[in-house]
Amino acid sequence: MIYTVILPAAGSGKRMGAGKNKLFLELHNIPILIHTLRVFDRDPNCEQIVLAVKKEEQMFIEQLLNEYSITKVVAIAEGGNERQHSVYAALKEVTSKGIILVHDAARPFIHQEIIQQLVGAAIATGAAVAAVRAKDTMKKVENGIIQETVDRESLWIIQTPQAFQYTLLEKAERLAEVENFLGTDEAMLVERLGERVHIVESTYDNVKMTTGEDLLYGEAILNKREQEEQ
Ligand code: CTP
Ligand code: MG
Repeated sequence: MIYTVILPAAGSGKRMGAGKNKLFLELHNIPILIHTLRVFDRDPNCEQIVLAVKKEEQMFIEQLLNEYSITKVVAIAEGGNERQHSVYAALKEVTSKGIILVHDAARPFIHQEIIQQLVGAAIATGAAVAAVRAKDTMKKVENGIIQETVDRESLWIIQTPQAFQYTLLEKAERLAEVENFLGTDEAMLVERLGERVHIVESTYDNVKMTTGEDLLYGEAILNKREQEEQ
């Protein structure tokens, strides 16, 4: 069950507040971007990796790929102002038009097993995304006042990878661009075509490195994994 992965890496990391692209911050002395790339570089089912990066960071990223012997990056697209634009730019570079995964470069802890389940689900159904159940009580609030308690059973927190058959994702991205629609994930673009998007239950450690405390959590995950390997 082979696939191609798109890794959008052209953000600024504003919420991390590191004064640089957060993907260059290190966990256990290795840049976050490399942790994520290694997952796919080492997965025999991953055929190609396509990156979207900022123009001014491309040379530095190419150096990192060299330094850490990442071999599967077949194209580097120029990212856009919004994540959606970065993903679409990368999609245009894809040459292997089977199953496409889109995965945040800022989520370095995704498990191989979840990736395979997503690929399988996308082959069978067209579209599938990683998700976890909401743990807390969820309420709808307007102007600081609770309107209602939302039934938690129906609420899922959506992550990446998001897996699609190429033709479906390409159509969704193209129409979103034509209609000037900006979504927060790829699933949203596919949902608006009226297509079904399935979920694959993922794990809570597939966290996105977004703010400073996520780095502490990230270090802890790596510590645990190292201990388990010993
Ligand atoms: N991303 C991208 N192009 C953009 C914005 C984001 O390729 N114009 C990428 C990021 O590099 C990241 C992923 O999309 O790997 C998820 O985005 P997010 O976590 O929001 O990262 P940033 O946009 O960098 O962070 P922030 O929103 O805090 O600025
Ligand atoms: Mg962002």
